[in-house]
Amino acid sequence: MGLVAGRFGSAVSLGFVVETERQVEAHLASHMDRLPKGDLASRAIVSQMKVDEARHAREAQQAGATELPAPVKGLMKLAARVMTTVAHRI
Ligand SMILES: [Fe+2]
Repeated sequence: MGLVAGRFGSAVSLGFVVETERQVEAHLASHMDRLPKGDLASRAIVSQMKVDEARHAREAQQAGATELPAPVKGLMKLAARVMTTVAHRI
């Protein structure tokens, strides 16, 4: 999908980056919800990862990213769900 996005130019490619980072950030937020409150080490790591992903999205926006259409975002979410489900089962 990233390869295809790249064929539409830098703004679309950066839009792909922004949406990817947003979805990863949301995925990490779901991990935060499931991590035990007392697991401070894991929570600190995931929290820092969330901060990093948000910064990547912000930087891609500042570099001129275009907002992707909703159907494309939905397709990306579907692909991510397939990847995380397969990874979880393996
Ligand atoms: Fe990132």
